[in-house]
Amino acid sequence: MKEEYPLVEAKKLKKYFRETSLLGKVIKTTKAVDDVSFSIGRREKFCIVGESGSGKTTLARILAGLLDYDEGELFLDGERYKDLLEKDRKGFRRKVQIIFQDPYSSINPRKSVREFLERPLKLHGISFSRSDLLNILESVGLSPAEEIMNRMPWELSGGQRQRLFIARAISLNPELLIADEPVSMLDVTVRAQILSLMNRLYEDRGMSIVLISHDMLTVNVFCDRVAVMYLGKFVEIGKARDVYSSPIHPYSELLVKSTLKPDPGIRGKVDLPEKEELGSIPAVGCRFQPRCIYSVQRCALEEPILREVSQGRSVACHVKGVSRS
Ligand SMILES: Nc1ncnc2c1ncn2[C@@H]1O[C@H](COP(=O)(O)OP(=O)(O)OP(=O)(O)O)[C@@H](O)[C@H]1O
Ligand SMILES: [Mg+2]
Repeated sequence: MKEEYPLVEAKKLKKYFRETSLLGKVIKTTKAVDDVSFSIGRREKFCIVGESGSGKTTLARILAGLLDYDEGELFLDGERYKDLLEKDRKGFRRKVQIIFQDPYSSINPRKSVREFLERPLKLHGISFSRSDLLNILESVGLSPAEEIMNRMPWELSGGQRQRLFIARAISLNPELLIADEPVSMLDVTVRAQILSLMNRLYEDRGMSIVLISHDMLTVNVFCDRVAVMYLGKFVEIGKARDVYSSPIHPYSELLVKSTLKPDPGIRGKVDLPEKEELGSIPAVGCRFQPRCIYSVQRCALEEPILREVSQGRSVACHVKGVSRS
């Protein structure tokens, strides 16, 4: 670990998905991650929040080393991701772990909980005993661990399965744990339990966490810092509690407002356009402008850049993002 560097540093990262015709002509380009820069400190809980299609999972997969980026640079402990992955992919995987929204989709139903837990340890040549496995299960609240260890994954509830994935991820003692909407498929009480488990593991182990969410309330409860993502861009970055209590970017404001609606069924969902519509970025100007109630003429003509408006707070908006100093 090299303390002089942030754990993760991203500089002008880009990932575009291109659909081509049979003749090889590009017919559609999705700018899933579009010129994104940020850093994540050690022991930091960093959130990325945004609606469906904003590019969160694409960014999470890049951070986890599962997807290559097209442009820009990404560093872990001061070393380029591309070099690290080329040199020692296995070593990288030990340092960076990811858990997904739907753990069931990536579980082999024929393997028991025990085999599931053992696999990465064996793969990485880490020696372990039966009691190590039991301790890991206990540490994520899966008990009685003896009994759970011999179960099959389908015999676990959704919350227990997510705990199992967390157990497997932390068994490798990662420096960075990425959690892509880990609680969005769980019911409200189980959500709170899983978040509190992640918080406790964070306190005990001191790793950094990237939590992906579409819900500002979760972000406010869990994270130190948040990046608000809209159609591939970060539109606001700041301390989670500041962004939640006084959002500056109109999109952040919309996300916060959606958490305040009394009907829990509406919580987390803003007046969402169709996904197709979300994917279409205006050729010029601010990409949030078509939905923005504050927009002025300049917004349709010129894309705002992310600018620091106060210490540790950056906003990309011509209207709301003007420096307060
Ligand atoms: N492999 C792919 N090929 C083509 N387009 C893709 C691919 N993966 C993602 N996209 C597109 O990139 C955009 C961002 O997708 P992504 O899954 O990163 O969004 P998200 O913020 O995670 O959304 P959600 O909240 O629904 O999970 C979307 O328009 C999506 O359709
Ligand atoms: Mg996603």
